[in-house]
Amino acid sequence: MTAKRKRVAILISGRGSNMRSLVEAARAPDFPAEIALVISNIADAQGLDFARTQGVATAVVDHKIFSNREKFERAIQETLLAQEIDLICLAGFMRLLTPWFVGQWRDRMLNIHPALLPSYRGLHTHERALADGVKIHGATVHFVAPEMDAGPIVAQAAVPVLQDDTPDALAARVLAQEHRIYPLALKLVAGGAARVEGVRVLIDGAAPAPDALLWPAV
Ligand code: GRF
Repeated sequence: MTAKRKRVAILISGRGSNMRSLVEAARAPDFPAEIALVISNIADAQGLDFARTQGVATAVVDHKIFSNREKFERAIQETLLAQEIDLICLAGFMRLLTPWFVGQWRDRMLNIHPALLPSYRGLHTHERALADGVKIHGATVHFVAPEMDAGPIVAQAAVPVLQDDTPDALAARVLAQEHRIYPLALKLVAGGAARVEGVRVLIDGAAPAPDALLWPAV
């Protein structure tokens, strides 16, 4: 008997390209999760159009109509419970979450961040990486902890920082890797191969990718 697919909600605020990569990956019949719901706090978020064309249920929970963060989150929580959601993927969701909400979804909520955490938490990661002159940058999928851009790491991908990079060029190179590691991380978590142990995520049968990046190459 095959295990029931996990029901996933993706929370977005904008473009939704990571959401798209998850929806596309979940089309595979053996993918252990289905994208059951996309929630946006922005009514005209670009990503909502794609979700709708794919027949994915969508909901808008506009943070501006609530008097405080917890009321906003309780409205989201109701929507998630009504749809019997098992896992949340934050994908460019631009609201900070309270410890209450994070606690409700402990070890069941993932986020993608455009940097190699724990470096460059917060915004403008590509500009900051360029300003520091780092040679390697990248992206991280992690379980969400109460502290912003922190929590046990599921997957990371590294990219070279090129000498003539602009923030946009670097962002595009990182984004291409985000679209690889988010589906991979969701597959591992939804399929039960990844589990949190303390501050780490242990992954059954994990091996580094053969194209693990070193820069400069030696
Ligand atoms: C991505 O770079 C993601 O890592 C960050 O916000 C951006 C969202 O892009 N959290 P998109 O909406 O998924 O295209």
